Amino acid sequence: MKDKKINIAIFASGSGTNAQTILEYFKDNSSVEIKCIYSNNSDAYVLQRAQNFNVATKSFTNEEFYKSDKVLTHLQDNEIDLIVLAGFMWFVPSKLVSNFTLLNIHPALLPKYGGKGMYGHFVHEAVIKNKEKKSGITIHYVNNEYDKGDIIFQASCNVSPSDTAEELAAKIHKLEHQYYPITILKVVEKLLSETEN
Ligand code: GAR
Repeated sequence: MKDKKINIAIFASGSGTNAQTILEYFKDNSSVEIKCIYSNNSDAYVLQRAQNFNVATKSFTNEEFYKSDKVLTHLQDNEIDLIVLAGFMWFVPSKLVSNFTLLNIHPALLPKYGGKGMYGHFVHEAVIKNKEKKSGITIHYVNNEYDKGDIIFQASCNVSPSDTAEELAAKIHKLEHQYYPITILKVVEKLLSETEN
């Protein structure tokens, strides 16, 4: 029997530095294929990054994402086993949550600084405004509520009183790049072991 491979779809909305580290990390892994990068923004730089790795891309409109099965069907046709959100700023509809395993990375220590409207720089601005001494990253499964799925991994960093949102974002990106790919690998290994049983 052919060895099982885990097919991954990455969803991203912007620059895609996390997507880039995931593409690099898995490029020589024969158990994983990054099948396609999906974006709600056809101009997102992440789509260029995908092309640099010869990975397929698919962008979609709000209407297509929420009111049609276009994305769901595309994922099913690609035989996707795992969806990885990497800077994806839209709420994921339940039709995807009920059909796939999904992971998200959030740029704060959930349950603090999560929920609707808490993404990207808004998170860092709120953390600084509240004079938090620590922030960090949370990698979690996605369920039907914003940032409420089971937590898989967290790592923290110090917030200095002088940090700007950009400086804090840079610290957070460093943690994300260090830990997201290896955490995805752990989930891949779990999925592979489940297919063996
Ligand atoms: C990352 O910091 C990620 O945690 C955050 O967007 C950034 C995307 O950066 N995601 C969210 O805020 C989701 N709620 P990137 O495009 O360079 O990977």
